[in-house]
Amino acid sequence: MSVLTRTEIAGRIMVALDYANAESAEGLLKQLEGIPCFVKVGMQLFYAAGPSFVASLKTRGYKVFLDVKMHDIPNTVKGGAESVTRLGVDVFNVHAAGGKQMMEAALEGVDKGLASGSTRPIVIGVSQLTSTSQSVLNDEIGLAGTTEQAVIRYARLAHAAGLQGVVASPLEVTAIKSACGDGFVTVTPGIRPAGADVGDQSRIMTPAEALAQKTDYVVIGRPITGAADPRAAIEAIIDSIV
Ligand code: C5P
Repeated sequence: MSVLTRTEIAGRIMVALDYANAESAEGLLKQLEGIPCFVKVGMQLFYAAGPSFVASLKTRGYKVFLDVKMHDIPNTVKGGAESVTRLGVDVFNVHAAGGKQMMEAALEGVDKGLASGSTRPIVIGVSQLTSTSQSVLNDEIGLAGTTEQAVIRYARLAHAAGLQGVVASPLEVTAIKSACGDGFVTVTPGIRPAGADVGDQSRIMTPAEALAQKTDYVVIGRPITGAADPRAAIEAIIDSIV
């Protein structure tokens, strides 16, 4: 049982528009018309369709998470953050692995890009990618400890830099909130409705389980975009939570 209304639940679902071009993304948007969910534009679509596509989403009233995971020297990230703030995105992210100074520079870029009257975007850190296995972390990247320890360290660093949250696995939400506070936003991919194809995700939770962990947003891609009837798929997800 959830205390959230259907509209509130929809507002906490970020649909991943993982498409090769604007036309394909528009096809999905048409099917989801009227559902007040977030849309997530990742690097595939952004590099193909560009800032004008994002600007057009904003003109049409969509809430947009621009998932381009910036990671560069602080001055460059500052410029990138300024540009995406000008586009009017609601949420964007930077890699916590870029360090505190880089994350602080992103926030300075936001300050520069804010026009009078525009809403400040939420800047979140990418903690350890959910695709990073224990052996990749230890043997390839060279970080000691468990992936959960890495996630919590990155979350604390993002928090100390002034970011408002992190992207992480739903399994890490409780530990992140206890380290950084309940108000520290968590955005969680790795979501699969009961019985859905897991694909390349591991360490998954259902949408209802993830929201029960008190995650703020669930990112859902293929269970919606790959469904024969995407609208029925998102409605069923909402029904599973109400
Ligand atoms: O299709 P699926 O539901 O697996 O899509 C998940 C989305 O979340 C994809 O756009 C993927 O890039 C993104 N993501 C992720 N794991 C992360 C960060 C982002 O799956 N750690």
